[in-house]
Amino acid sequence: MKYGYFDDKNREYIINNPRTPWPWINYLGNEDFFSLISNSAGGYSFYKDAKFRRITRYRYNNVPMDSGGKYFYINDGESIWSPGWKPCKTELDSYECRHGINYTIIKGEKNGITARVLYFVPLKTWAEVQKLTLTNNSKKVIKLKVFSFTEWCLWNAASDMENFQRNFSTGEVEIEGSVIYHKTEYKERRDHYAYYSVNVPIQGYDTDRESFFGLYNGFDEPQVVAEGKPKNTEAHGWSPIASHFIEVELKPGESKDFIFVLGYVENKEDEKWESKNVINKKKAKETIAKFNTSAKVEAALADLRKYWDNLLSIYTVDSGDDRIDRMVNIWNQYQCMITFCFSRSASFFESGIGRGMGFRDSNQDLTGFVHQIPERARERIIDIASTQFPDGGCYHQYQPLNKRGNNDIGGGFNDDPLWLILGSVSYIKETGDFGILNEKVPFDNDVSVARSLFDHLTVSFDHVVNNLGPHGLPLIGRADWNDCLNLNCFSNDPDESFQTTENKTEGSKAESVMIAGLFVVYGRDYVELCKRLGKDAEAARAQKHVDTMVDVIKKYGWDGEWFIRAYDYYGRKIGSNDNEEAKIFIESQGWCTMAGIGKEEGLCTKALNAVKERLDSKYGIVLNNPAFTRYYIEYGEISSYPAGYKENAGVFCHNNPWIMIGETVVGNGDRAWDYYKKICPSYLEEISDLHKTEPYVYAQMVAGKDAFKPGEAKNSWLTGTASWNFYAVTQYMLGIRPEYDGLLIDPCIPTDWKGFKATRKFRGATYQIEVVNPDQKSKGIKEVTIDGMPYKSNLIPAFGDGKEHKVKVVIG
Ligand code: BGC
Ligand code: NOJ
Repeated sequence: MKYGYFDDKNREYIINNPRTPWPWINYLGNEDFFSLISNSAGGYSFYKDAKFRRITRYRYNNVPMDSGGKYFYINDGESIWSPGWKPCKTELDSYECRHGINYTIIKGEKNGITARVLYFVPLKTWAEVQKLTLTNNSKKVIKLKVFSFTEWCLWNAASDMENFQRNFSTGEVEIEGSVIYHKTEYKERRDHYAYYSVNVPIQGYDTDRESFFGLYNGFDEPQVVAEGKPKNTEAHGWSPIASHFIEVELKPGESKDFIFVLGYVENKEDEKWESKNVINKKKAKETIAKFNTSAKVEAALADLRKYWDNLLSIYTVDSGDDRIDRMVNIWNQYQCMITFCFSRSASFFESGIGRGMGFRDSNQDLTGFVHQIPERARERIIDIASTQFPDGGCYHQYQPLNKRGNNDIGGGFNDDPLWLILGSVSYIKETGDFGILNEKVPFDNDVSVARSLFDHLTVSFDHVVNNLGPHGLPLIGRADWNDCLNLNCFSNDPDESFQTTENKTEGSKAESVMIAGLFVVYGRDYVELCKRLGKDAEAARAQKHVDTMVDVIKKYGWDGEWFIRAYDYYGRKIGSNDNEEAKIFIESQGWCTMAGIGKEEGLCTKALNAVKERLDSKYGIVLNNPAFTRYYIEYGEISSYPAGYKENAGVFCHNNPWIMIGETVVGNGDRAWDYYKKICPSYLEEISDLHKTEPYVYAQMVAGKDAFKPGEAKNSWLTGTASWNFYAVTQYMLGIRPEYDGLLIDPCIPTDWKGFKATRKFRGATYQIEVVNPDQKSKGIKEVTIDGMPYKSNLIPAFGDGKEHKVKVVIG
C-alpha cells in the first residue's frame, strides 16, 4: 500500500494519508540551523549541534510515536483541529504533506477552511520560517481562534531530559509585542537565546506549559485551545513554551498569511543586554524583519529552490526508468547532503544526544556531495583530520559545535584512518585541488603539532602497516567498519556498552580481512597520489606494503569459496565454512572484490557467486549467513542482535553497494542492478506497509531473511547507505567517474538496456553524455566520440572551458 506519491517535477514526495506506518520526516536547513519535521509537524530544531544547542524539545520513542513539534491549533467554533492532523487528530476533510528539498508544506482542510503551513529554513539564516495561510472556502464569514505552539528545550538535550531538580527552576522567558524570547541560562554562561515571533499583533500568548495544556491534557487537547482563550502566562521555571494567540476573521474566499519565525541568536559578552535583565533583541528583530511579508518569504523560498536547482544540476541521468532517475537526480543526492550535515546524530532513530560526527562515517558521506559543495567538503576534511592522533589513530567521533574529538567514545577502530584517504582523494579527483594536501592540519586539535594533510594520509596508511597481526593482516582494534564485531571486548556485563567499554587489545590476535581489502583499495590510491606528487620513493615503499597485503589476503584470507571475514582474539577463523554460524560475511567479499584480489584466478567471481547464493534475499543482501542464534562473547555485539536484525544478518544496506561495485569489477551489470533495485526506496513504495520507513530515502537496515519480519526497514535517513549507493550507481554502474586527469566513462549496465543519457558538470565544463548499447553487453568500450570526433580513450579530458561537450560512448 502507498501513502503518497512522487512529484518529480517539483521534487516532492506528497503524502496524502497522515497515518503513515512510521513518521515520515524531512530536514530543514543545510548549514547551521536545522529542523526535523514529520508529516504531521512533529520534530525539533537545533543550532549546529543536536546535543548542545537544542532549541525545541522532543520526546523520543513516545506514546503515541512522534508527539511534540511545531503545531498550530485552530478552534473554528465547531471543531478544534490541526493542519497536519496531529496532534488533534480531528478527522480532516483533506490532508496533504509535501516533503520537498529542505522544505515541507502541510495542508489540512476542515469546515470550509484550508490551513497551509510552509516550513523552511532560509539560506544563511539562523531561523525556521513558518508561513501559515488560512483560506475561507465557504460562503460565510468565519471567525477562528488560532494558537501556535512550540516547546523550548533547555539547550543541552541530554541534561534537559534528566536533571529535573535543576531544570524546573531555571526556565526564563521575555515577551515583547508578538515575540516570545527564550532566555534560560542567558544570565550566566550562555551567549545565546531563542525566539518565536509572528508578523501580526497577537491577542494573547502563553509561555507556561501546564497553564497552556492543563495538567491532565496531552498535545491533542490543550486547555486554552478548548476554552478559546489564552492565559497570558509568563513562565518562571517549570517548562517554558511559546504559544501565540491570534483571532482571525475571514470573508468568503478570503486568504490571510501569518509568518512565524523561530530563531536563534548569539551575542557577544558586552552586547548581551539592553538593560538589566532585558536581553538585547537587535539581531532577532533583524531576522524577523527579513521575513515579515509573504513576498519576502516567497523570495527566500525561491532562493532556496535556486540553490538546489544548481546543486542538483551537476549530475543528472535519464535512464528511462523514473524510479532510478528520481533517486539519482533528487532524493539520493538530497539524502547525501543530510548525512553530510548530521552524520549519524539526529533523526527519528538517532536521538541527537549520543553521537556526533563519525570519523569514518563523515569521510564516506563526503563522496556523496563533494561534487555539489566542494568548498564545504574541503573544510570537512580538515575538521576530520584535525581529530587524528600523530600515530594515525583517531577519535571515532567529534562534536560539530566545537569540532573536537569526543572523549566519551574514544578511538581504536582500526579502519578509521583509511577512510581519510577516501575522503581526500575523492575531493581532489572532483576538484583537481592538490593544494589541500599542503594545508597544515593539527593532531588532536593541537595546532602546535600541525602537519600537512598529506602527512596525515601517510600516518593513516602507516597506522595499518604498524598494526599488523600474526598473519600479516591488519589488527582489528576495537572494531572495523562493523562496529558490532567486537573481537576484543569479551563483555558479560549488561551495563557496559559494547562500543566504549575497555578492550583487551594487548596480546590479541584479532585481525580483519575487511581492513585488509580496504587497505589494498585506499593504499593504491595513496600510491597513485604519491606518484602524482613526485614522491616516487614513498610510492614504492607503499606499493610494497600493498602488494604484500594482496598476497597475505590470498594466503590467509581465502576460504576456498569466499573470503573469510576475520581472525578472532585467539587467531581462529571467522566467516569460514568451518564455522558453525556466520560462515560468510558480506564485508570482506565487498572489499576484496572491489580491490580485485585474485580476479585473474577467479576468486572474485567465486566470492560474488557465494554472495548471490548465501547472502542474497528478496529484500537485499544480508550481512552474514547463517545468522548467529546465540551470544558469542568473543564476537560481541553482533551476536547480541536477534537473527536477521542489524549487523546480525540484517540487510545492512550500507554494504550492499560494495557488492554492486564488486559486480561491476567483474562486469556483471545485470546482477549489480538487481541488487541496486532491491534496496532502492523508490522501488519499495508499493510495499510501504511492510517497509515502513520513507519511500524516498534509504534506511540503514532492512530485516533480513532470518528475521521475524523480513523486509521491514529501520533507521532511515542517517546512514552511509546514501553516499555508497550514490557512489556505486553514479560512478560504477552508470560509470561516470572523476579521475585526476578527467572524467572516466565506464558504465556497467544491464544487458537489456539500450543505453542512457546523463549530464555531468565537472571542473568548469558540462558533459552531455550519451551511452548506447547496441550489442546488449554490460561493460566494455567500443567507441568514444567527443563533440562528434572520435576519441582515443574513455577518459574524457577536464576541458575546464566553461563549455558544453557532447560525449558519446558505445558499449561493446
Ligand atoms: C549499532 C551500530 C553502530 C554502533 C555505534 C551499534 O549498536 O548496531 O550500527 O555503528 O552502535 O553507535
Ligand atoms: C553505523 C555506524 O554509523 C557506522 O560507523 C558503522 O560502520 C556501521 N553502523 C556498521 O556497524
